[in-house]
Amino acid sequence: MRPTTTLLRPLGLCLALAAAGAHAAAAAAATPDLPRIVEKDGRHALMVDGAPFLVLAGQAHNSSNYPRALPKVWAAMKDARANTLEIPVSWEQIEPQEGRFDFSYLDTLVQQARANKLRLVLLWFGTWKNTGPAYTPEWVKLDNRRFPRMLDAEGKPSYCLSPFGTATLAADKKAFVAMMAHLRKIDAAQRTVIMVQVENEVGTYGLERDHAPAAQAAFAGPVPAAVLARQKAPRPGKAAGSWTEVYGDYAGQYFHTWAIARYIEEIAAAGRAVYDLPMFVNNALRDPGPLPAPPWKSDFASGGPTYDVIGIYKAAAPHIDFAGPDIYMPESGKVGATLERFQRPDNALMVPEMGNAAGYARYVYQILGRGALGVAPFGIDYASYSNYPLGAKATDRRMVEPFGAVYAAFGPMARPWAQWAFEGRTHGVAEGDDRAPQTVAMDGWSATVSFREFQFGERQYLRDKNEYASGTDTPNGGVAFAQTGPNEFVLVGQQVRVKLGGTGANAGKPSMFVRVEEGSFDADGKWVMERNWNGDQTDYGLNLPATPTVLKVRMGTYEP
Ligand code: DGJ
Repeated sequence: MRPTTTLLRPLGLCLALAAAGAHAAAAAAATPDLPRIVEKDGRHALMVDGAPFLVLAGQAHNSSNYPRALPKVWAAMKDARANTLEIPVSWEQIEPQEGRFDFSYLDTLVQQARANKLRLVLLWFGTWKNTGPAYTPEWVKLDNRRFPRMLDAEGKPSYCLSPFGTATLAADKKAFVAMMAHLRKIDAAQRTVIMVQVENEVGTYGLERDHAPAAQAAFAGPVPAAVLARQKAPRPGKAAGSWTEVYGDYAGQYFHTWAIARYIEEIAAAGRAVYDLPMFVNNALRDPGPLPAPPWKSDFASGGPTYDVIGIYKAAAPHIDFAGPDIYMPESGKVGATLERFQRPDNALMVPEMGNAAGYARYVYQILGRGALGVAPFGIDYASYSNYPLGAKATDRRMVEPFGAVYAAFGPMARPWAQWAFEGRTHGVAEGDDRAPQTVAMDGWSATVSFREFQFGERQYLRDKNEYASGTDTPNGGVAFAQTGPNEFVLVGQQVRVKLGGTGANAGKPSMFVRVEEGSFDADGKWVMERNWNGDQTDYGLNLPATPTVLKVRMGTYEP
């Protein structure tokens, strides 16, 4: 089964539904749709309660998955204006003794999330967490005979558990299934939990693949047909045959990727069989350098769903909806290249983690403008812990506020935004490290977005040409557009100047702003105007201030 489904129901199903009568309709109303990811024309939406949902999330710190730690999480999530919390559920906490499950934390988490009006994305910390076994129960992590670690070519064990450990897979799967069954019991009616991440940043550092006997035998065997169909060799080898024959220098990494993906598939498929929520994997990035990516050289975690092997995950783990990038590379060029490589017709874009330093907040516009399902800065939690230099130094409101301001602007229009994104109407940019203007091509219109401008006047009016608007010392501008009609746009952004000009059918025609309203959407999705921008506020383009601002813009052309 491919979990990613299209919105269009097959005709036979529609007829069957129609014939089923009032009883079936009543039953369907009583058990509304579970969250699911749908695809249409290569774009994706996360359907929650029957409509596209935009995930404006924050991820809690790794150790905040305990009831007494939660108040500091809820407080930060509130300031972040998030609608979803991503938080771990670890194997060690639900099954501290083999076969004895304790779901008290999960019960508290789900109840308190509801009280805080938040949805949840659960992160299953099992066999692999940042590649290591730290979150497995003691009875797993200390018993290498039953739960073997990977072996190198000399037979020396690695820190990382082997994807060929059949007892490890069986035990992880059993715990995961128990969790999903419990979740169905406590949450199927309300669907507070909307997605589940299976394992966390899988792969292995320092060792390309397992050399245990079972792994050696599989490595010498043929590449499965499904992998051949989805993953091309970067350098042409044999069309079929052993991993080395087909993939040459890439064989070790590709084989390990397949082994881990297959392991995850078994867990995800079993979990979905009891409670069918969307599931995904996250990825510790490899540098998005020039293509084709060179073979593994100890420079990233082999076996993880890096951008170069998404095809293997698609082939081996069809119950995983998507692989998402964890973005901790702050450079704008790398962020852009990473988003491009993970957003594919067969892979919905969702950023399950991103640094929480202020400079990352601008990327929310780029990510949501690209039509992502959502985004989650990491460490949105008032625990006294800073993961600087990956994230912010501050652990208080100063850390949360840059994201809270952006989410506050998107929040009221999250549902329509997700719908517009699914229809391919949205675009977004984040200020680049080079601070240079960028253009956004839309239907009949092109936007030029520039940065570091004063709100009034042009740069040539300045006596000191090196003078820049205050608050722009480091890149922090961003804007996202939704084209809601042929000449109509909703814009949300900060620290940018936007000018629009006609293209396509409007090319060469003089144009102007017909109406520019600043305002927001109310709880029913109705636009509420605060003021109409005109005169100074539109004479030099649309100059969005440091506080994220939402505009409803209508453009027009006139005869020259
Ligand atoms: C990525 C991991 O997925 C997270 O669990 C966490 O360890 C962050 N890195 C760094 O704090």
